[in-house]
Amino acid sequence: MRPEPFKIKMVEPIRLLPKEEREKKIAATGYNLFGLRSEDVFIDLLSDSGTGSMSNKQWSALMLGDESYAGASSFYKLEKAVQEILGFPYVLPTHQGRAAENVLHSVLVKEGDVVPGNTHFDTTKAHIEFRRATALDCTIEEAFNPTMIHPFKGNVDLEKLKSALNTYVPQNKVPFVLITVTCNSAGGQPVALSNIKAVKELCEEYQVPLFIDAARFAENAKFIQLREEGYRNKSVKEIVVEMFQYADGCTMSAKKDPLVNIGGFIAFRDSTLYQKCSVFAILFEGFLTYGGMSGRDMEALAAGLEEAINDDYLEYRLAQTSYLGEQLLKHNIPIVQPIGGHAVYVDALSLLPHIEREHLPAQSLAVELYIESGVRGVEIGTVLADRDPITRENRYPRLELVRLSIPRRVYTNNHMDWVVEGFQKVVEKKDQIRGLKFVYETPILRHFTAKFEKV
Ligand code: F0G
Repeated sequence: MRPEPFKIKMVEPIRLLPKEEREKKIAATGYNLFGLRSEDVFIDLLSDSGTGSMSNKQWSALMLGDESYAGASSFYKLEKAVQEILGFPYVLPTHQGRAAENVLHSVLVKEGDVVPGNTHFDTTKAHIEFRRATALDCTIEEAFNPTMIHPFKGNVDLEKLKSALNTYVPQNKVPFVLITVTCNSAGGQPVALSNIKAVKELCEEYQVPLFIDAARFAENAKFIQLREEGYRNKSVKEIVVEMFQYADGCTMSAKKDPLVNIGGFIAFRDSTLYQKCSVFAILFEGFLTYGGMSGRDMEALAAGLEEAINDDYLEYRLAQTSYLGEQLLKHNIPIVQPIGGHAVYVDALSLLPHIEREHLPAQSLAVELYIESGVRGVEIGTVLADRDPITRENRYPRLELVRLSIPRRVYTNNHMDWVVEGFQKVVEKKDQIRGLKFVYETPILRHFTAKFEKV
C-alpha cells in the first residue's frame, strides 16, 4: 500500500486515560459519547465532519479572507470554485450542511409532502419531518443486508422511486427527489453514475427536480472511477462534472469532502429558485455573499474543493478506510460490506446478538469500545432513528451499527490498528455486556443529548 501523499508539519498531542478513568468519564455522561470532552478521547472517530486537517495551501488562503459585509472577493472565489467543479451557476453560502437544508426546505417542503431518495441523513430527515413532511427511503434492498457485496449499495431502487412518484406526484406532493452521495446512513456506500442518470430520467418524466446531498461527492466519484464500467480512465474531476450535470442543485456540508472545519452552501441551476432561497438565506444565515461564513472560511473552502477531487488524495483516503475495515474483518469483527468511503460500520446485531433491540446493542458496543480503548465511535441505530413522530414508538432500523468515521488526513494506520485491538478486547468480554436503557431523551435528534443507564 502506498503511504500518505503528504508529510506532517504540525502535531497535536493526544493522551490515553487509564481504563478506570474512562469508565468514570463515560458513566458521568450518562453513557452518551457526545457528552465526553475530546481531551478524554484517545482516537476520535465520532465524525469525519469538520474534523479534517487543512493543507498548507488552505492555511495560507485564510490570510486572504476578505471580511467585507457585502461583495467580499472571498465569496466570488468560492462561487467560481463551485461553478468550475460542480457546474452550478448560482451559489448561496451557509454555515454548514443543515443550514443549507433549512434554507432550501423552507422554500420547497410543505406539510404533507414526500421527499423520496436513498436513505436521508438524519438532519435532512429531521428538517423534512419538522415541516410535517415525509422522507421516503427508496434505497435498493441490498443496502439492508450488511454482508451482501454490491458495488453501489447507495443506489436508489428505481421501482420504489417510480411507485412513489406515481402515487404522490399527481397529488402535487413531491417537491424534489434527493440523492445523498455517498449514502452515509446506508454505510457510506456510493451511488453509481448510471443510477443518478436513471433517477434524473424518472424525475424528468414526472417533472420533479433532482437535488444531491453532496457532502461526500468526491469519495463517491472515486468509487465510480474504481467500480463502474467505463470510468476507469476518467479523472475524478470529469466524473464529478458528470454526476452533477444531472442535478438541479445540491446542498453541501463542506465539513466533509471539501476539507474545511466549518461551512456549507446550496448550489442551483435555476435563478428563480436561487432568488426564492435568497430570502431565507438572508433571514437565517446572513447576507448573500457570506451566509454564515467568514471570508477566510470561504477562502479555505474554495481551496479545499480543489484538493477534495485530487486523485492521489482520494486514493489514500479510500485505502485508509479500507485498511481499517480489512483489519477488523481479519479479526472476525462483523462490518458492513463492501467497506464505505468515510467510515467503517460495525454490525452490533451480529457482534452482540444476546442484547435485545430495546437495550440498544450499538450504543452499548460504542460505550464498551470507549471503555476498552479510548476510541470514540458513534451509534447509527435505534437511538439515532428517533421515535416515530406520530405513534411516538421507538423506530427499530434494519441495521444497528457503530460507525467509525475517519477524519481526513488526521490519523495514521497505526491509530487504526489500535482501534482493531479495542474491538478485540470488547469481544473477549462480550458476554458480560448487558445493554443500556434510556433515562432521558429529547423529542427530536435525541442521540446528541440522551442519557442512559446500564441494564
Ligand atoms: N448530509 C449528510 C450526508 C451528512 O452526513 C451530514 C452531516 C449533513 C448532511 C449535515 O451537515 O453537519 O454540516 O450540518 N453529517 C455529520 C456526520 C454530522 O457525522 O455524519 P452538517
